[in-house]
Amino acid sequence: MTEDLRAAALEAITRSHAPADPDYPVVHLAPPIGRLNDPNGLLVDSGTYHAFYQFSPFHPHRKLVYWGHASSRDLLHWTHHDPAIIPDSFYDRSGAYSGGAVVLEGDEPHAAPAEAPYQFFYTGNLKDPVTDERTASQCLVTSTDLEHFDKWPDNPLLPGHPAGYTAHYRDPQVWRDPDEPGSFRMLLGVQRENLTGAALLYRSSDLLSWQLEGELTFPDAGGAFDHFGYMWECPGLVRLTDELTGQVRDVLIWCPQGITPDAEGYENIFPCVYTVGHLVGTELRECDGTFAEVDRGFEFYAPQAFARRPSEPGPVLLTGWAGNASEDDQPSIETGGWVHALTVPRALTLRGGRLLQRPVTTLSDDAAVLTLAGEELPAGVPIPALEGHRAWQLRLEAASEADRWGLRIGDADCYITVELVRAADGAMQLSVDRSHSRYTQHGATRTVTLPAGTPPRLEVLHDRSVTEVFVGDGEIAFTLRSFVAPYATGANLLVDVGVQVKANVVVYD
Ligand code: FRU
Repeated sequence: MTEDLRAAALEAITRSHAPADPDYPVVHLAPPIGRLNDPNGLLVDSGTYHAFYQFSPFHPHRKLVYWGHASSRDLLHWTHHDPAIIPDSFYDRSGAYSGGAVVLEGDEPHAAPAEAPYQFFYTGNLKDPVTDERTASQCLVTSTDLEHFDKWPDNPLLPGHPAGYTAHYRDPQVWRDPDEPGSFRMLLGVQRENLTGAALLYRSSDLLSWQLEGELTFPDAGGAFDHFGYMWECPGLVRLTDELTGQVRDVLIWCPQGITPDAEGYENIFPCVYTVGHLVGTELRECDGTFAEVDRGFEFYAPQAFARRPSEPGPVLLTGWAGNASEDDQPSIETGGWVHALTVPRALTLRGGRLLQRPVTTLSDDAAVLTLAGEELPAGVPIPALEGHRAWQLRLEAASEADRWGLRIGDADCYITVELVRAADGAMQLSVDRSHSRYTQHGATRTVTLPAGTPPRLEVLHDRSVTEVFVGDGEIAFTLRSFVAPYATGANLLVDVGVQVKANVVVYD
């Protein structure tokens, strides 16, 4: 008899004690049991947000990847649902890998498969048990109610990689072509036969039959992305209007594995970068070849934007995996049988070609405001409004010139620090140090030079063992796992004597 993988996952979830773990986050989506990696199929549906994610319920004993599912009305409190995609078909039995969603309008003229408004595209991963040879195919799952999920009977839609590429062919993102009504496009990460990374574009008018258009090219980039790593994972395109120029831009966000740029940053095993241009056909025109890391923290990868139906427009919201490959060695595996989380969604804007990210969870104006103007202010002042809390968001603004200011989170022995520090050349830097925490394995200290003119503002969302830091207007985002003392509450200000700091606070637990 074939194994009932749905029942096995549900049984593992029932036995889970993960949410009782002191490190289990309050407002970050974490797996009910086992391992989570990439966000998948993110969508907005009449004001409810649905997040699917790479889910391995039997980790670390068995790496079998499902699509987990959770929903939220406020992007802070998540309700878990049963897994949506079970890897029990001949084409996905080694894993239902990453992909995205499209939400169709009721009256959209497309021949929507099964007339279901929710369409999910994912990669079926198959490894030959004898040869270990990989086959990757692109598959469809549909839903009419976001409770039941049906694999398309004629899966896979795209049974294998085209000539010129290897079986590293995955992570479909599908979207309506804004320039050609009635047409959908698919972007996929691939590896060329010469072992360099690239992205492929496909086109469809019915979401079932897909025509290969070709590789995404960069005609104005001077060859910058022609040999850019050995594989591109999770490519996605988002359209934004640049606040400064008013131009409509297409921002490519992707994870090129194996790059070693000659620039500050890129310390993580795999990076996530973006570049800006204007998509015409398969060409990302007016992209000059410059790129930057999306998030400068120790843990960030494979982000995805929420899909929307045209009648429900809103800001572009991006959520990433607050993790990276080869980082399953976290304390929560021992204490709660779970590992990794997603970031809180960020609203994206573009200003002069630079991506700005702000957490969607905003601080209300009537949140507690604290002004410290101490001539004698000692280092390490507790912030009263945070006392007793382990999940909170805080915006700090230095009202006067300060050469070093920030926060210590945790207790006196087991903590992280997040500070803005003036370097010898006068530039301000974000300095993050987790060397005194319980998780230091994949980077303990990191310094990030802020772009000139970044406002002296630190926004920190700390949630038990996950911390997201945003500097200025979101010029820098920095995500890290912060395993401080398990029950430590609050945070202490670290400020130079005489510096005025204004703090605006909201607590989540
Ligand atoms: C990125 C990734 C994707 C793949 C998925 C498998 O983290 O490797 O390319 O679809 O994870 O879990």
